[in-house]
Amino acid sequence: MSTSPNPERPAADERLRDSAFLRAARGEPVPHTPVWYMRQAGRSLPEYLRVRQGVGMLESCMDPELVVEITMQPVRRYGVDAAIFFSDIVLPLKAVGVDLDIKAGVGPVVENPVRTLDDVAAIPDLTPDHVPFITEAVRSLVAELGGTPLIGFAGAPFTVASYLVEGGPSKEHAKTKAMMFGAPDVWDALMRKIAGIAAAYLEVQVAAGASAVQLFDSWAGALTPRDYRDHVMPHSAGVLERAGALGVPRIHFGVGTGSLLELMGEAGADVVGVDWRTPLADAVSRVGHRGVQGNLDPTLVFAPTEVMTARAAEVIEAGRAARGHIFNLGHGVIPSTDPAALERLTEFVQSYPLD
Ligand code: CP3
Repeated sequence: MSTSPNPERPAADERLRDSAFLRAARGEPVPHTPVWYMRQAGRSLPEYLRVRQGVGMLESCMDPELVVEITMQPVRRYGVDAAIFFSDIVLPLKAVGVDLDIKAGVGPVVENPVRTLDDVAAIPDLTPDHVPFITEAVRSLVAELGGTPLIGFAGAPFTVASYLVEGGPSKEHAKTKAMMFGAPDVWDALMRKIAGIAAAYLEVQVAAGASAVQLFDSWAGALTPRDYRDHVMPHSAGVLERAGALGVPRIHFGVGTGSLLELMGEAGADVVGVDWRTPLADAVSRVGHRGVQGNLDPTLVFAPTEVMTARAAEVIEAGRAARGHIFNLGHGVIPSTDPAALERLTEFVQSYPLD
């Protein structure tokens, strides 16, 4: 039945379906605990710094050859169980024409922050025609990765709204929350707009061959459960519902979300990403019949190897009670991380006996 032009594709498809990562995401038994790292591609790798020399962050995200190379770097070096697509949560906004940049050492900066209904209306919806370079990069990557799954991703409405409303990175998200509390019509329009863009962006990645998706709501931990439920969750749930129709596992991650884990699961995740502040065993009992992803403290890779691996073992053991467990750090790889430590950690997790 296959019309695949690549004769190796059917065998790769089978290895993919049977990969430890996808098995864990579906809640099936695994040969070993699968492991990948948020921000596994990036500044902690000398080979990344080399290829990024003189190339802007957004420019590199729009260059399929570079995206393939950077996405493959940690897969080659660590032999992780999944690749994360090299891009950024603000890339789809850039693609539809929002005037923004990613400044080194700062993060996304938006030229004209969103304040009014007109500002929201001026942001176009995303169509596949806005991101042909994404389709091309994902297709090439899937061919190159063979049996290793590719995780596509998007930023969740609250986290992306924070950059659009604040105009740049923020600790308190004060302007964002002021809009949420004080201008519900603008807030609702903005959240709908971003949710539509995020869902369309995930659809493009899955159509091109991504075999799982992660919705990053990194800054959702700034919200009380009540405000998350009333003003944010319905919009994230909308994105996850559209992603669910694609038939791939959905991971839903945030930082400092210890009080939101149940809701983040209910929003429609197959797997809930957990940061390091919540003991994984607690998270497992709170997310219901769902998988978990996480959650070693990212600073533990700076500790002596025995300390790092002892803590990793505790995470793996806690994860065994879950419907499925994907090992990860509790947030992204810290740029000063020694790649050799991540190599040792990957090897430890993948060889940890589960029977
Ligand atoms: O391995 C990977 O995960 C790489 C792909 C990736 C990047 N950004 C590349 C990147 C992913 C999944 C993201 C998501 C992202 N971007 C999130 C959610 C994940 C999280 O960390 O919570 C957020 C909040 C952003 C916004 C953003 N973009 C930030 C906060 C920064 C870092 C600012 C800084 O320089 O400290 C960026 C820039 C960025 N995105 C870099 C990379 C590799 C650094 C750019 C560089 O190398 O100059």
